[in-house]
Amino acid sequence: MSDSSFEPKIVAFVCNWCTYTGADLAGTSRMKYQSNVRMIRLPCTGRIDPMFIIKAFESGADGVLVSGCHPGDCHYTAGNYHARRRWILFRQLLKFVGIDESRVFFSWVSASEGKKWVDVINEVTDTVRSKGPFTNYQKLNKEFTING
Ligand code: FES
Repeated sequence: MSDSSFEPKIVAFVCNWCTYTGADLAGTSRMKYQSNVRMIRLPCTGRIDPMFIIKAFESGADGVLVSGCHPGDCHYTAGNYHARRRWILFRQLLKFVGIDESRVFFSWVSASEGKKWVDVINEVTDTVRSKGPFTNYQKLNKEFTING
């Protein structure tokens, strides 16, 4: 279902201490990557409420990326472990509201991994582009509104 003119909108929730700094390194190193991602910086992946992800899709995102410090490197000790555990439960919620869970991506990118950030963004963008636009959430929203 790919449309050659389709440019996916991807929202990336990243932690301040590792992934954001890694993305900054990619920028200051003048590495090139696809420009489809809008980053939202949070203190830690443990701070990412699953509703942020639902809200991103509701607002028109075609894919969502969550990225933070590698396991064991979280600046708040265990925030990324909490995020990973939360994801296991969150997958059930995604199915329930009709969001294809394969549109949500997770990665660990450290402050020194600018190249990895570039690779993750390019891979996520290509994957979402091949899936086509995400429209299910809007359809569900419309059904709920019409049927009360
Ligand atoms: Fe980066 Fe917790 S500070 S995941």
